Amino acid sequence: MSIRRLPEKLVNRIAAGEVVERPAAALKELVENALDAGATRVAVRIAEGGILRLEVDDDGCGMTASDMALALERHATSKLPTDAIEDVTTMGFRGEALPSIASVARLTLESRVAGADGWRRVIDNGSLIAEGPAALAKGTRVMVEDLFARVPARRKFLRSARSEYAACLDVVKRLAMARADVGFTVEHDGRRVLDVQGGQDRLSRVAALTQRDLAANSIGVDVERGEVRLGGVISLPTYNRGIADHQYLFVNGRPVKDRLLVGALRGAYADLLARDRHPVVALFLDLPTSEVDVNVHPAKTEVRFRDPQLVRGMIVGGLRRALDEQGFRSVQRPAEAALAAWQQEPAAPAPTSGFLFGQRSEPAVHLFGADVAPPPADAARVYDRMMPFAGASAPIAGRAEVAEAPPPVAADHPLGIARGQIANTYIVAEAEDGLVIVDQHAAHERLVLEKLRRGMAGQAVPSQGLLL
Ligand SMILES: Nc1ncnc2c1ncn2[C@@H]1O[C@H](COP(=O)(O)OP(=O)(O)O)[C@@H](O)[C@H]1O
Ligand SMILES: [Mg+2]
Repeated sequence: MSIRRLPEKLVNRIAAGEVVERPAAALKELVENALDAGATRVAVRIAEGGILRLEVDDDGCGMTASDMALALERHATSKLPTDAIEDVTTMGFRGEALPSIASVARLTLESRVAGADGWRRVIDNGSLIAEGPAALAKGTRVMVEDLFARVPARRKFLRSARSEYAACLDVVKRLAMARADVGFTVEHDGRRVLDVQGGQDRLSRVAALTQRDLAANSIGVDVERGEVRLGGVISLPTYNRGIADHQYLFVNGRPVKDRLLVGALRGAYADLLARDRHPVVALFLDLPTSEVDVNVHPAKTEVRFRDPQLVRGMIVGGLRRALDEQGFRSVQRPAEAALAAWQQEPAAPAPTSGFLFGQRSEPAVHLFGADVAPPPADAARVYDRMMPFAGASAPIAGRAEVAEAPPPVAADHPLGIARGQIANTYIVAEAEDGLVIVDQHAAHERLVLEKLRRGMAGQAVPSQGLLL
């Protein structure tokens, strides 16, 4: 077999295998290009999870018609003016995203630089099919349609439009966190799903893009060691998730999914979280470009540190210290807020209706008995003991009332007297010292176990010989 040089189209398609594995990966490259072009706002439109169409509009520097032709060639980039790849500060630098995407989709590139006319080029799976003038404001618009339509092997591996969309949104969120100075919008199938203004500071941007309760359940981190700086927010151990999807990590402003960083994060929370729970974090590590290599993989989401131990030590140490200082705090759940609101209700006679269980049984057993309110100081003390973290922030205007003596409970019924059953599973009973909820299936198993145990003790467990 003789060796041959592969045609450019095929080379691009092979590279596309790594650079654009799914719509979100193509989108990431396009948004990175917009940011590298100095955009102050980036508008993203996604149709059917990006499989049908992806569009990125920016108000960056734009390209001339001749640059547009070059941009679509392999290894053509404006981002390495010298050959010093170690000093790269832009998101892109490999010059392979546009030609790779254009080799596996229909790509429409429209661009205009200040003081010139706009131009359009359309490339369909690697072949130029149209070009000509285009009317647009200064900046660039890139549209990617029918991704992998001619690469069935790839298309087969795409997930549902919904999960491809989720991956696309995640990519934009991460880049939007990395660049709080830039405004971002995302539309999916015509619906606006993300909208953040430019000129925010990092922490407000993180707050705008994460769940609302993170702010109340997180602590700030800011550690500096020499020229290395680690900042951001981390969740309290009590605020965690079943999957590690809300961990936003950045190295020199680049979103990364780096093993060393994830491992260090795990190390920092090791004694505070179960193995299958994950904290929510947005951490920004900034260090001199000479200390980190971003050219590890075409997708540029992995990095290599010159001194991995220093980075690991800084993350584990910095996070532990921050968590230790906040050791007394724990998660603020909506239920606690509701409880606090209840505590603040004005003291009033107990209502005659609205009991927990539809009707009142006779004689009435009140959850909270009569009209005597204890001195508020007592209520406050009880409340403080219950929820030390709520501290002074929840004023007590109590309605705590003395409970009526429960009906006598026979000593041989330590689980109290059954009052009802819920969901065919739980027995609710009233005992001397409170309310008891029993999982009846678990209780039955326990009774069987006890019976067997007793039988064993008396050597009288009935047994049957097996035939086989
Ligand atoms: N949105 C854009 N605005 C201005 N120039 C762009 C834009 N997208 C791409 N370019 C130009 O096209 C070149 C090639 O882009 P790409 O293939 O993504 O490679 P890279 O980003 O690694 O340079 C870039 O270096 C840049 O000069
Ligand atoms: Mg690029």
